[in-house]
Amino acid sequence: MNMKRIAVITAGGDAPGMNAAIRSVVRTALFNGLEVMGVERGYTGLIEGKMRSLDIRSVSGIINRGGTMLRTARCEEIKTNQGIQKAARTLRTHKIDGFVVIGGDGSFRGASELYEVSHVPVIGVPATIDNDVFGTDTTIGFDTAVNTALFTIDRIRDTATSHERVFIVEVMGRKRGFLALAVGFAEGAEFILVPEIKFNLASICRKIKLGRKNGKTSEIVVMAESAGDSSLIAEQIRKRTEYDVRLTVLGHALRGGPPTAQSRILANQFGALAVHFLLEGAEKSMIGIRGQEIVRADLDDSWTRKKDLDMQIYRLAEILSF
Ligand code: F6P
Repeated sequence: MNMKRIAVITAGGDAPGMNAAIRSVVRTALFNGLEVMGVERGYTGLIEGKMRSLDIRSVSGIINRGGTMLRTARCEEIKTNQGIQKAARTLRTHKIDGFVVIGGDGSFRGASELYEVSHVPVIGVPATIDNDVFGTDTTIGFDTAVNTALFTIDRIRDTATSHERVFIVEVMGRKRGFLALAVGFAEGAEFILVPEIKFNLASICRKIKLGRKNGKTSEIVVMAESAGDSSLIAEQIRKRTEYDVRLTVLGHALRGGPPTAQSRILANQFGALAVHFLLEGAEKSMIGIRGQEIVRADLDDSWTRKKDLDMQIYRLAEILSF
């Protein structure tokens, strides 16, 4: 098929580096003689037919900005057959020959179902702070979120040590613990709580007490939001240890801010390759990175298969923190 016009969308939760990815898609496409349309407000906008033409200057000055210039939304309608039909109609109306979806596993599920109805070739560009997409070691925005969390927890550590407190720090991660594990490992947290691994509060409290006997003055517990009720956990640790315990929920602060070099570089590479895959005739794929290599991955695997948490890192984190 002779590719003339492509569309790009950001969908689901935003992630730092999405803007850099949009810029890369737009400029690579224009460089190769394609027209580019930007879908506004994620799948909600696609269903409503909201698209605008993107030229070379429309993506100026965004490589360093968090969020997404195209906006995004949590869209329930795209999960229905009716929503998919409407979205497919928008692609047809605007004569879209190829579609680049920047988002996470939920967005790729929508992309895949849309392909089945519209037959417009679709390429997924993984961007989520959760890093829970199968087929890629890492996602755009993950490194930024890890660094944003570290920036704050380094400061929490100072006050934790001064006051000899236990701090529970909750990070995002709706279903998975990739973010909590990376943050906890890089922070040297005493405990990392993730939904993938059962933990025992009694044993955590015993270890906290033992640590204090051995000269520790404070503890950082990094937990994924999906690992349990953080205020309940804080309360139980307080009761069992009788130490001063505080809870900080980092939440949406982790989704914003300027992307790190790693998130930008990944976005530049993923965005450009997405366009090249379309030009080469790929029908339904995802871009991924495995080791140092940028690869073409299976789009359906990305949301149907479960990526493993790195247990070696988890165990090493445990060893190094005591
Ligand atoms: O999917 C990314 C994510 O940031 C999750 O970690 C979090 O649970 C969720 O989005 C929050 O979504 P919302 O911004 O819709 O509240």
